[in-house]
Amino acid sequence: MGKGFFLSKPVGVICMILGAGALATIIALSVVYSQEKAKNDNQVLPTDGGTTTKAPATTAVPSNEPWDKYRLPKSLVPRWYNVTLWPRLLPDETGLYIFTGESTVEFECVVETDLILIHSNKLNHTNLARLTSVDSGVKAPSIKSSLPQIETQYLVLKLDGKLVKGHMYHLHTKFTGELADDLGGFYRSEYFEDGVKKVVATTQMQPTDARKAFPCFDEPAMKAVFHITLIHDIGTVALSNGKQQETSMLNLGKQNVQKTVFEPTEKMSTYLLAFIVSDFAHINNTVDEVLIRIFARKSAIDAGQGQYALNKTGPILKFFEGYYSSKYPLPKSDQIALPDFNAGAMENWGLITYRETALLYDESFSSNSNKERIATIIAHELAHMWFGNLVTLRWWNDLWLNEGFASYVEYLGADHAEPDWNIKDLIVLNDVHRVFAVDALASSHPLSSKEEDIQKPAQISELFDAISYSKGASVLRMLSDFLSERVFTQGLTSYLNTFAFGNAVYTDLWEHLQMAVDNNTDIKLPDTVNNIMNTWVLQMGFPVVTIDTKTGTVTQKHFLLDPDSTVTVESPFNYEWIVPIKWMKTEVHQTDIQWLQAKTDIVDKMKTTGPTDWVLANINVLGYYRVNYDKDNWDRLLAVLSTKHNSIPAINRAQLVDDAFNLARAKIIPTVMALKTTKYLNLERDYMPWKSALNNLDFFYLMFDRSEVYGPMQKYLMKQVSPLFNFYKTLTANWTKIPPGHLDQYNQQNAISMACRTGLEECTTLTKTLFKNWMDTGSQIHPNLRSTVYCNAIAAGGATEWEFAWSEFQKATIASEAEKLRSALSCTKQPWLLNRYLEYTLNSTLIRKQDATSTIVYIASNVAGQSLAWDFVRARWTYIFNEYGGGSFSFSNLINGVTKRFSSEYELQQLKQFKADNSEVGFGSGTLALDQSIERTISNIKWITENKQNVLSWFETEAKLNEPML
Ligand code: BES
Ligand code: ZN
Repeated sequence: MGKGFFLSKPVGVICMILGAGALATIIALSVVYSQEKAKNDNQVLPTDGGTTTKAPATTAVPSNEPWDKYRLPKSLVPRWYNVTLWPRLLPDETGLYIFTGESTVEFECVVETDLILIHSNKLNHTNLARLTSVDSGVKAPSIKSSLPQIETQYLVLKLDGKLVKGHMYHLHTKFTGELADDLGGFYRSEYFEDGVKKVVATTQMQPTDARKAFPCFDEPAMKAVFHITLIHDIGTVALSNGKQQETSMLNLGKQNVQKTVFEPTEKMSTYLLAFIVSDFAHINNTVDEVLIRIFARKSAIDAGQGQYALNKTGPILKFFEGYYSSKYPLPKSDQIALPDFNAGAMENWGLITYRETALLYDESFSSNSNKERIATIIAHELAHMWFGNLVTLRWWNDLWLNEGFASYVEYLGADHAEPDWNIKDLIVLNDVHRVFAVDALASSHPLSSKEEDIQKPAQISELFDAISYSKGASVLRMLSDFLSERVFTQGLTSYLNTFAFGNAVYTDLWEHLQMAVDNNTDIKLPDTVNNIMNTWVLQMGFPVVTIDTKTGTVTQKHFLLDPDSTVTVESPFNYEWIVPIKWMKTEVHQTDIQWLQAKTDIVDKMKTTGPTDWVLANINVLGYYRVNYDKDNWDRLLAVLSTKHNSIPAINRAQLVDDAFNLARAKIIPTVMALKTTKYLNLERDYMPWKSALNNLDFFYLMFDRSEVYGPMQKYLMKQVSPLFNFYKTLTANWTKIPPGHLDQYNQQNAISMACRTGLEECTTLTKTLFKNWMDTGSQIHPNLRSTVYCNAIAAGGATEWEFAWSEFQKATIASEAEKLRSALSCTKQPWLLNRYLEYTLNSTLIRKQDATSTIVYIASNVAGQSLAWDFVRARWTYIFNEYGGGSFSFSNLINGVTKRFSSEYELQQLKQFKADNSEVGFGSGTLALDQSIERTISNIKWITENKQNVLSWFETEAKLNEPML
């Protein structure tokens, strides 16, 4: 690193753009830029030159010229880039933060053309681009005109002659851009350290924002080698995908700065690039010659908050090397925690970026859930280093395979790092159940999209949804199970070897898995991998498999949460799937898989013989489907739950509850039958079934917490949860210890939060006391219990508790503590506090932009905050959409979050009105979520009408049963 101050290095190029004179130009340009930006910001309706984020999804493309198409023409292929960037961490005279840069790209002309289209978004090109030919024998044509195309985000260069097929050219550009706080492209993150404001320049390129940092062919198949140089203030640290190769000092006009050159990258996609300048500290170790470093704010590193991530990265990396049978392809693996970051983490190759809560751990502040998130998110991003980065899907329509795959194997990587946690089971709650809820709607969509249907950045962003992540993970887990992990990983390795440093489509993976199947004669499949998987990938939804144990009849049907909804999309398979069924009969596991390939089949083995025999299918929920049985078999399963629940695996106990509740929602079984699955809970101590029950009961709370059902429901649930509460009270010696098991720790949290939710006085006293002691004496609450205790105490308290928590939030030195408080602050019942808190969400000095939408959603989850949050979002939609529109997950979460309680005709009308009123502003990545919310509201209205009376009397009866005599 720092070799002192010298000017002997060739600094010509940099001095040319960044010399004293240039500085003045830059300032002038930044003024022009800010004016330009202001124009764009005010422009809500796109004209021909409207900005993409503000364009309604339906904007017609004005003409059919190549620059009006969102996809690059196939004429030019990049080889390498040489990019120099200089982010300014102090504002200019106009208060604007900017960066300057220059770039050379070498590309090959593969189809003769007189047009260069290169992506460039919100960049101000300060010089006319220069084109030269690499071969001395071929002369480059000159550039006739150079124009930005704002809608499609191109720099359009028209040439006065043709580029020659088979020849190489260099395109040289100089540009400036704003280092805005917009969390996309090259952006600015800020934090305070010892009262001093610090600025970090960092990037988030995926999916389409590399073009905001420098002009590039910004599509995943346009892989190239990147030579990156960063100019930065002396003493700051510059990071990028490659290792720092050399660093030198420069004098640029009045400024002494540092120049860091990075080793050239491997051949890679633009969306995986990262450039960061900060004054962060780091810790490091080396595992088998791979340098592993964790970067974060100095105070976080000094407090040891990077240590857990550092300890776990090596083992997880080694695990994936074994799993893929492929060495980690880079010499280093940096991971950095950023104060402002839109997603949870981003798999930039060699420089993974995280939000702070996803990487930093402190035993005295972080809960077991925080720790689990860190282990799984590291595993997820490291999994991408091969699957996604080494081999990249050709276009975004196959995103589901990239994200679904990482979302599946993250559990395997985290399990390797924390083998005692039983973390692999949790995929059932976190992914399978999560996505069943959306994939059961008629407005769902298939995993796979057509390449031509995914064009605009907003369409790409919309793909980052629960279907891609959680359904992708679920069907890949099912596939790995029926192939066996051995065969699955054989196919995977051959896929990775074949397409390394290149691109693939999802069927390439199927082909390599098929080859592995063909090489292993012990694997028997009813059809090809491709044909089996097509039924899961090309049609939306999933089946409910019904087993009649009297006759052995097994049937399948598309499962729709609302049976009256109409599916307008035709399926190539007529909504039939090739279903692998693992099952058991009265405690005996079947070793073979029963395949269901038709609408109906007779499986003699599934007939029950004795009067107490039962059949249970979808063992460990390895299959992506629900199961229904004949009434007798349901009754027997319920009887087993009440007498010997351990004869059914815990995952399946969770599944019986979830299936029953959802089958009831779909009117396949009576609601009362679903409620009956909760009767044995007074005996249940395992986490998974409890969590499944609580998730489903949550729906009852949402539907009934404003109605007369609420009282009896509370009384019944208090009765059910009390034994669990007492169990943990004893186990933890009156709440002074923490149970040893990871899942037991979760269930302790469930016990407290549910007991308090049902109003169990001992619980409310406990949380109030713990909180009061903390307020009065500073005595710390165990991190595992903080979220629950904070929330309940703030709900029970008033302004004093709220203000105390708010000041603790502002003082918090670790993001996971701030996160717990931020969520708990939404629990107050005081409307004025909730309204004020809503206002805070749009002031980024109080609530970071990255946290704004999730805070609104927290407030909407509170029965007292729901309508306030909805009014707030409706009143400010245009502003929220324009200011917070870049994020990929946030919009669908926001819309789902503020509408999830909707269950009346009046609310439905409001929702429709909201859709109509804002059709011009648009809903961006939340478009689909809005339609799903409308569908959900319609089905909620019907559900309440049909079920309220029954549910009320069931709770009334059950609440009275065994009531202690007074
Ligand atoms: N590639 C994504 C990050 C991302 C998401 C970038 C959306 C652009 C738009 C990354 O691999 C990811 O999936 N992150 C997840 C974490 C994971 C554990 C599910 C996230 O950010 O939540
Ligand atoms: Zn991912």
